[in-house]
Amino acid sequence: MNSPLFHRVCIIGLGLIGGSLAAALREQKLATEIVAGGRSARTLERGQALGLIDAGYQDLAAAVDGADLVFVATPVSAMAATFASIAPALKRGAIVTDGGSVKGAVIRAARQHLGARVSRFVPGHPIAGKEKSGVEAADASLYRQHRVILTPTDETDPAATLAVRRMWTAVGAEVLSMRADQHDQVLAETSHLPHLLAFSLVDTLARQGDSTDIFRYAAGGFRDFTRIASSDPVMWHDIFMENRDAVLSAADLFAEGLARFREAVASGNSDALLGVMTRANSARARFLAMNARTSYTHAIDAADEQSMNAESRREGASVSFTVQPGGQLSGQVRVPGDKSISHRSIMLGALAEGITEVEGFLEGEDALATLQAFRDMGVVIEGPHAGRVRVHGVGLHGLQAPARSLYMGNSGTSMRLLMGLLAGQAFDTELTGDASLSKRPMERVARPLRDMGASISTTDAGGKGTPPVLVRGGKPLKGIHYDLPVASAQVKSAILLAGLYADGDTSVTEPAPTRDHTERMLTGFGYPVQRDGATARLSGGGRLTACQLEVPADISSSAFFLVGASIAEGGELLLPHVGINPTRTGVIDILRLMGADITLENERDAGGEPVADIRVKSAPLKGITIPEALVPLAIDEFPALFVAAACAEGDTVLHGAEELRVKESDRIQVMADGLAALGVPHEVYDDGIRIQGAGQGKPAFTGGEIESHGDHRIAMSFAMAALRATGPIHIRDCANVATSFPGFAELAARAGLQLAVED
Ligand code: S3P
Repeated sequence: MNSPLFHRVCIIGLGLIGGSLAAALREQKLATEIVAGGRSARTLERGQALGLIDAGYQDLAAAVDGADLVFVATPVSAMAATFASIAPALKRGAIVTDGGSVKGAVIRAARQHLGARVSRFVPGHPIAGKEKSGVEAADASLYRQHRVILTPTDETDPAATLAVRRMWTAVGAEVLSMRADQHDQVLAETSHLPHLLAFSLVDTLARQGDSTDIFRYAAGGFRDFTRIASSDPVMWHDIFMENRDAVLSAADLFAEGLARFREAVASGNSDALLGVMTRANSARARFLAMNARTSYTHAIDAADEQSMNAESRREGASVSFTVQPGGQLSGQVRVPGDKSISHRSIMLGALAEGITEVEGFLEGEDALATLQAFRDMGVVIEGPHAGRVRVHGVGLHGLQAPARSLYMGNSGTSMRLLMGLLAGQAFDTELTGDASLSKRPMERVARPLRDMGASISTTDAGGKGTPPVLVRGGKPLKGIHYDLPVASAQVKSAILLAGLYADGDTSVTEPAPTRDHTERMLTGFGYPVQRDGATARLSGGGRLTACQLEVPADISSSAFFLVGASIAEGGELLLPHVGINPTRTGVIDILRLMGADITLENERDAGGEPVADIRVKSAPLKGITIPEALVPLAIDEFPALFVAAACAEGDTVLHGAEELRVKESDRIQVMADGLAALGVPHEVYDDGIRIQGAGQGKPAFTGGEIESHGDHRIAMSFAMAALRATGPIHIRDCANVATSFPGFAELAARAGLQLAVED
């Protein structure tokens, strides 16, 4: 039961908005007394009869007498006169707030008419409504799960803002704050413009000759698009008049877009047409995902980026896994497409001539960040629809300058490979990322690219050279030879991609083999790459020809299942169509050295990449010293391998893996903390770890709480640990699982993991 927030609340203007607040306050018992003021005696009587208010006054001064809170819900054009009438009668300290859809004009009126009392005026805008208007439509649930924007000014008393915020929260709304001018611009674009279009479209068609015919044949699209043309004309008249400048600039912006669309139709430019519609599709999907509070992929401009990053942080913290102990994995599990190959399919498809068709594309947030970046650079990309993508290549020199920074989310691969590719463009680009990516080292890529003549600046956070990264275009590049100081496919790929634009030969020698998808795929696009031992070499100035690509299932995502099926007694899984490129199969080699029962069936080639169906059966594992040569070949799979090590008989020792410290999290430390939380004895080294395993037939983990630090692979690895735990494992911060493995929770649960997602 709520205790009242206010003694007496006065609503001025008892229509849908005012009446619904009265109804909600009443329902929640948030005011001892609710009264209303307004011109129409009939409305006031109706309000009383409906039980919304205790008394109604046509004299506004009488209405606000003794009220602690006054909510002005008149049309915006009547607010100045309302403020003037109530100002002398307000009790000391009374708070005034409003529900107007335009804020600048209302604040000006309040300043003019409320005098010194303006400090207790809290401008607000509940974003809720229906096509129905009037007190009869009042609805106590109108504000539930809707947003209310408050736009306090410098002179607004923070205590008054807090009281209004509390009221809206108590009736179920989500309260946001922003500047009034920002509010008016945003609303002009997202609400006022669509209303203008709906009113105008219906009127335009209705004025045409025989409009009955038009309406008779109008289908669902017309009804959906024009629903809001049934809104209250007086209210909308006021909004258009009071928010004139912002509405005009939104209308002009739209007129430009309409002219572009018209021109594309007129000239039969199908790429331009598809471009508009595929971009709109993806923007709308993003908008729906944001509203559904699922995790999202891309942020676009700086303001968006900030608010969306905040959103993602909040969401990241709010998605967690709880996995009950025990069980086993069995059946067939088709894991999603390979992340590394998916990134490259978009990049090379975009730079090719012709249309590249991709199947099996990973619809995870990392690969989608790459896809969005190329859309932002003018590339038309259809899909993804069930893993199918069509990339309308623009050729090596066809990318266009993006309108804003390219946001890479959590994805190191997107950022590093793009740095190389963007170094060869004629335009400047800024690359940004989420909190985790913003801590990762980028100088390892920037340095060799500078040797090639590129102009790149990173942010010097503690000398690490982190994002944001600024790549200045228009610099001629020359081929170089580079000896990689660390075994990194991302650095190698960035240099090779820059090499496409360089004068002469570019070659890279790696200290140990790393994934070679870039080299293989370039060859598939008809771009010659020579391989000579540890050196890959290409010459600039060639061209890529579009092709068909089939992305195999990701061995890195399969790794969780390889480990899960191995450690839980009685398990057997078949993982079909997994990429087994020899530069990626370290996880299979390491697990086999530990005694795992893994067999490759039906080995074949899928568009230049070897694939196989992988069968894994539960087996007793033993601890090993992991051969350092296998480290780069299993670089992403160590979190899962640490879970296997904790179940093995004896110690497992890893050295030479310092790279793990600069992945999406410091994977040595974060895994060690998780192992400690689950009672697994271990010793941490700068470049690795020693893990003492429990041995076959014994529980390896206690239950406990895991902090994944937003690292997808940490979250999925500890989920598998539950198969050999004595109690439930609760894993926090799991939203980023969607970066590489959308659908993990459902797939794992179907295979036998007792996993529940809490959102
Ligand atoms: C990747 C290379 C690896 C890997 C990453 C994907 C790639 O990074 O960890 O997940 O697609 O090139 P490094 O090259 O930095 O080792």
